[in-house]
Amino acid sequence: MSINVIINGVRTEAESGRTILEVCKSAGVHVPTLCYDERLEAYGGCRLCLVEIKGVPRPLAACTTPVQDGMEITTESETLTRLRRTNLSLLLSNHPNDCMNCEKEGDCGLQDLAYEYDVRPGGFAGEKWDVPIREDNPFITYEPNKCILCGRCTRICNEVVMAGTISLTGRGFNAMPDTAFRKPRTLENCEFCGQCVSTCPTGALTDRKGRGKGRAPKMKKVKTTCSYCGTGCNFFLNVKDGKVVKVTSAYDAPVNQGNLCIKGRYGYDFIHSPERITRPLIKKDGQFHEATWDEALGLVARKFNELIAKHGPEKVGGFSSSRCTNEENYLLSKWVRCAIGSNNVDNCARV
Ligand code: FES
Repeated sequence: MSINVIINGVRTEAESGRTILEVCKSAGVHVPTLCYDERLEAYGGCRLCLVEIKGVPRPLAACTTPVQDGMEITTESETLTRLRRTNLSLLLSNHPNDCMNCEKEGDCGLQDLAYEYDVRPGGFAGEKWDVPIREDNPFITYEPNKCILCGRCTRICNEVVMAGTISLTGRGFNAMPDTAFRKPRTLENCEFCGQCVSTCPTGALTDRKGRGKGRAPKMKKVKTTCSYCGTGCNFFLNVKDGKVVKVTSAYDAPVNQGNLCIKGRYGYDFIHSPERITRPLIKKDGQFHEATWDEALGLVARKFNELIAKHGPEKVGGFSSSRCTNEENYLLSKWVRCAIGSNNVDNCARV
C-alpha cells in the first residue's frame, strides 16, 4: 500500500511497512549509517541514523522505525548533528585512529563520517581497547581495536551465511565479535567466505591476502562474473599495477547482492600463477611437449575423424561446463550437432 510522508519538507510517496531509512534512500536523502547493511535485519546499534519526527519527543533510529502515513521527518538539524557528533566522538575515543597505516583508509565508514561531521579523536578520556591483532588463519586479519561493535560481521555470519562462526562474545566493555572460546578460525569452524570482511565498515576485518598491496582509492575495479560455478555471481577484481590483488563485493549484482563464497572471494591466485598452461601441450612417449595451435587442433580433428569413421558419430558426445559462458556452451552444442553429427550434448549444470 502506498502512503505519503514528508521528508525535510518534501512530500514523498512511500510503501507502507518500509523503514524511514529505506524511504530516505529511495528518495535520495542522505542519512548517515554505520551498523546498517541492506542484506541484514535492522539492528539500531550505532544511533547515527537518528531522525526527528514531528510529534515524537525524541529522535528515533531511521533504520528500525517504519514509516507511517503523514509522518513528517527531519534528517538534518542542529540537535541531530550534535547527537551524531557525540556518538562519533565516543567511537573515536576507543579507536586507534591510525588512518595513515590502516588497510581500510579511503574506504572506511567511520573515517568518512568523522570527516563529514568534523569529529576528531580525544573527545572522551578513558580506557581504550588494547587487544593484539589476530592473524591466526590464512584469509582474514582481525584487528579488534578497530571494531565499533556494529554487529554487522556477526549478523551476516548468522543471518546470511548461517554459519554461526562468530558472535558477540564477552560483556560490557569487553564485548567483541569472536569465535566460540576465541579459538582460531579453521575450516572446521569457518567457511572463509569473507562475508564478515565485506560488511565491516572499519579496518577491524580485512582480507589478509590483499593487505599491504594497495588501498581502495588506488585500485582499478573491474566488475566480472565468477568463473567457478554456474551461479554467475558478480564481484570486483581489484587491480593494481596490472595485477589482481583482491576481490570485493558488487552489491548491485542481481544474482548474489554482494555475497560470495570462499572460491569467489579468495580463489584468485590462479590468475597470475606461473604454473598456468599458456601453450598447447601434446603427449608423446608419456611426456607433454609444447606444440603450436595448428598442430594441437590438427591432432584433435584427426582423432575425431578416425573415431567417427570407425564407430559412427553417435559414439561422440560433448559435455560442456557451467564455468563457460552461455555463448561458449551454445557453440559447443552447435559444434557437436553440426560438425560431429551427434545429439549427445550435456552440461554439468543441467540438474
Ligand atoms: Fe540505524 Fe545504525 S544505521 S542505528
